[in-house]
Amino acid sequence: MSAPIGVFDSGYGGLTILKELKKQLPQYDYIYLGDNARAPYGTRSFETVYEYTLEAVNWFFDQGCSLVILACNTASAKALRNIQQLDLPNIGPDKRVLGVIRPSSEVLGNFTQTGHVGIMATAGTVQSDSYLLELAKFFPAVKVHQQACPMWVPLIENGEYDKPGADYFIQSYLDQLFSQSADIDAILLACTHYPLLAAKIQSYLPHGVKLISQGAIVAESLAQYLENHPEIVAKCSQQGQLQFYTTDNAQTFEKQASAFFGQKIEAKHTDLA
Ligand code: DGL
Repeated sequence: MSAPIGVFDSGYGGLTILKELKKQLPQYDYIYLGDNARAPYGTRSFETVYEYTLEAVNWFFDQGCSLVILACNTASAKALRNIQQLDLPNIGPDKRVLGVIRPSSEVLGNFTQTGHVGIMATAGTVQSDSYLLELAKFFPAVKVHQQACPMWVPLIENGEYDKPGADYFIQSYLDQLFSQSADIDAILLACTHYPLLAAKIQSYLPHGVKLISQGAIVAESLAQYLENHPEIVAKCSQQGQLQFYTTDNAQTFEKQASAFFGQKIEAKHTDLA
């Protein structure tokens, strides 16, 4: 039996990834889940993010999904490895859960001339050091400078991302990042919410510094993965359909979602039960 590809985020951010998946792989069906009732994840402990993410993964499996993308850096950083190594062998040995940190790390080093890259992310992602570890595998010579940006997700989730209030916190975190090294010439927005701030961030960057969003990178990587795994493709339904679920209020989700997804959507509520 085939089923949609599951796409998960703590809230709205994963929609910036789904938008690119739909662009590059429009033939597949997708089912999106935002755990808005318990967002943000970025400030929560390892144990809590793992527990919440595992609940979501089980929910996707209950919907019949064989492939789930954690379109959330925080969940990828804090829960993916445990889920892949400890849980999947018991709850779904023939199922796959993928994240966004590895595909981003596989290419990030290609964007820098100076060998210095910046990672802007939630406090949870930064503390996990996942990007340091992953980038060291693919680009051992590249120096990684991390900056936690705890105010950005609340600004975005509260619709302040294009208002003057956002400017202060953009400047402030960029100043802190560049104070680590003036040689940074490529910055990854390592939180799926942050593309909403991209235009403003770009306006504060020194000339020649590249700003990288993950959506297209993750979509390219998934396309490659599916090409290499026909057995997974056989389990993914392909009618170009989209479904959206939230653990919070569906009407509120619908109102906010278009800013992230670029078009109007219809959402349903789920209790994850
Ligand atoms: N969108 C999530 C990420 O990519 C973070 C948002 C949150 O803190 O819940 O890390």
